[in-house]
Amino acid sequence: MTKENLMVVQTQFLNETLAGLQASPKFMYPKYFYDEKGNYIFQQIMEMDEYYLTNAEMDIFSNQAEQIVTLISEANTPFDLIELGAGDAIKSIYLLKEMIARKLEFSYLPIDISAHVISNLEVKLPLQLPGLDINGLHGDYLDMLDQATTISERRKVVLFMGGNIGNMNPDDAESFLKSMRRLLSKRDLLIIGFDLKKNPKQILSAYNDSKGITASFNLNLLARINRELNGDFEIENFEHYASYDPESGACKSYLISLKDQLVHLGEAETIGFAKNELIYMEISQKYALEDIERLALGSGFQSRNNFFDTNRYFLDAVWSVS
Ligand code: AVJ
Repeated sequence: MTKENLMVVQTQFLNETLAGLQASPKFMYPKYFYDEKGNYIFQQIMEMDEYYLTNAEMDIFSNQAEQIVTLISEANTPFDLIELGAGDAIKSIYLLKEMIARKLEFSYLPIDISAHVISNLEVKLPLQLPGLDINGLHGDYLDMLDQATTISERRKVVLFMGGNIGNMNPDDAESFLKSMRRLLSKRDLLIIGFDLKKNPKQILSAYNDSKGITASFNLNLLARINRELNGDFEIENFEHYASYDPESGACKSYLISLKDQLVHLGEAETIGFAKNELIYMEISQKYALEDIERLALGSGFQSRNNFFDTNRYFLDAVWSVS
């Protein structure tokens, strides 16, 4: 990143953090979890016994990549495979392998909020997948998708996996998908992962693990603010709280202030916390199949196929633009 870019990014981080901390209730943007430390803790989350999502989606991609690639290659024309929130691409590798084996003509455009993640992918993936045409982008999903759609005239296949859509509440998810729809054209496809409603205890323990890894993931954002925005959060004065409402499917996490306290950001800003006041950190929305079909229709897509894992914990849906 250039110096100017870095300054723009840090200014946005400061402005959005301040806006969230001055709102009522206070909140933070989940995209800021993923600094280097946050990426590392998220890797640990994905390896936890309680966090069933990763294994479930791995099961789908490791066992059904052929069927998914058959759907993608029906059109029999070159395409750009754009992945939003690519991370370590550990699941998409199954698709990429299958596409290369079939000698399909495509470019892989991974998008991630973290520049570090993208440069890593650009170095490592071609070693694992010789012949892969890769062009990474880092930034916000829609900005980068917009940029990616201008790179070529080819049809687009957008991958939005991992249940990342769950980080938006259902209304925001619908408007996000509508905006995505506007950037796409008729022949394009979206492959989108949803974590499904299931036993509420199983869901809650995935976000309230016994070792406190999820707690440290949340608390790391306070530490990041201290590091990057010159804040003075006393981390031990905040506690992780997770909740799941089986009716709405909303799984939410909070940090609770354990006492009355003042926190400073830089020289100029002071934020007051009352004892037991909360910061709303993240939603991980769970869906029923009917909710998903409704969401497709409501946002201008048509559901083409549903790929479930063997336990039916998770769904990767293939939608076409309608
Ligand atoms: C990356 C948004 C899919 O909501 O399950 C995991 C993030 N937060 N544990 C999720 C997360 C706490 C994760 N997503």
